Amino acid sequence: MTKMNEKKVGIIGLGKYLPEHRLSNKDLEKIVDTTDEWITARTGIKERRIAADNEATSDMAVKAAKNALENAKLNPGDIDLVIVATITPDMFFPATACIVQNKLGINSVPAFDISVACSGFMYGIAIANQFIKTGVYKHVLVIAAEKMSSVTDWTDRSTCVLMGDGAGAAILGEVKDGGILSVYLGADGSKGDLLNMPAGGSRIPATVSTVEGRLHFLKMQGNELFRHAVKIMAEAAMKATEPLGLKGDDISLVIPHQANIRILNAVAKRMGIDPAKKLYLNIEKYGNMSAASSAVALTEAVEEGRVKKGDTILLDAFGAGLTWGAVVIKW
Ligand code: UT7
Repeated sequence: MTKMNEKKVGIIGLGKYLPEHRLSNKDLEKIVDTTDEWITARTGIKERRIAADNEATSDMAVKAAKNALENAKLNPGDIDLVIVATITPDMFFPATACIVQNKLGINSVPAFDISVACSGFMYGIAIANQFIKTGVYKHVLVIAAEKMSSVTDWTDRSTCVLMGDGAGAAILGEVKDGGILSVYLGADGSKGDLLNMPAGGSRIPATVSTVEGRLHFLKMQGNELFRHAVKIMAEAAMKATEPLGLKGDDISLVIPHQANIRILNAVAKRMGIDPAKKLYLNIEKYGNMSAASSAVALTEAVEEGRVKKGDTILLDAFGAGLTWGAVVIKW
């Protein structure tokens, strides 16, 4: 919560980029043993976007960033810090944020990546909030960008139907009214095995056998993760809203990480909100884009007029790590 003398911080620009290529459930029926009916009923996904072979995470991130700069009516030179939330960086190092910073032509500002999977946009907002409210920086660019197709095992029907590619971006700065009211973050490393990519790091460096063993693709224990997702996202929502004295009714719109429509409906039920009125969904079009999901969802909710001035919105995310985060913003 904002203390005396601290600046009020809000989102002053939003942007997105989705690759052109759409991969439908029907297309997936030709690749793995699945059906449109199963995917729709179990996940809520109808199609997802897939980046081109020559399109890396930084390329999508830059496009979303430019879109956000235009929306904020700012130039790249107005940005003081670049944060990229991603688990699919262009390469291990340098940071994708440095590649983005260079492509934006702002080569002296600090830039770094954060690797907290689907919660990355929440963590990015939290970091930006601190830097701005304490007066260190004026404008922070937070980009959440993922090329999940690059770590997807296209022979594994239990995961390949879920993921998609895309990028969302937000510019944070000082606002006169409203802004970020509360931020709640959490993590539980003891459950890291539920969703990971086993090889390619220092534990299991890349070898011919890791490639043959398909260890450079994401592995997920979907069922167990599902249970944690429902519980933790509902708890995170409560931890972010309770200190403000807010109840489900006081929230105008919940904009969650889009992992599975059944998870989100269950979270809405625990929060006591009507999903038809107060839950923003775009999972049908994009699937799970990890960190990019909530950033694109917020951007589209605003573009579609679902978020109006004076509304109190809740962002809520959960992912590999495990990590989670919730942010309450008065628009
Ligand atoms: O983004 C951050 C975190 N991600 C999540 O939180 C995701 C959480 N998990 C989920 O969303 C769900 O667990 C999944 C969508 C991944 C799976 O749904 P489920 O209802 O938990 O299915 P299941 O894993 O229990 O599988 C049920 C059946 C199995 O067959 P049997 O063993 O009952 O005969 C699977 O083999 O569905 C089968 N199955 C499929 N069938 C058709 C699994 N994937 C598919 C598929 N098409 N694509």
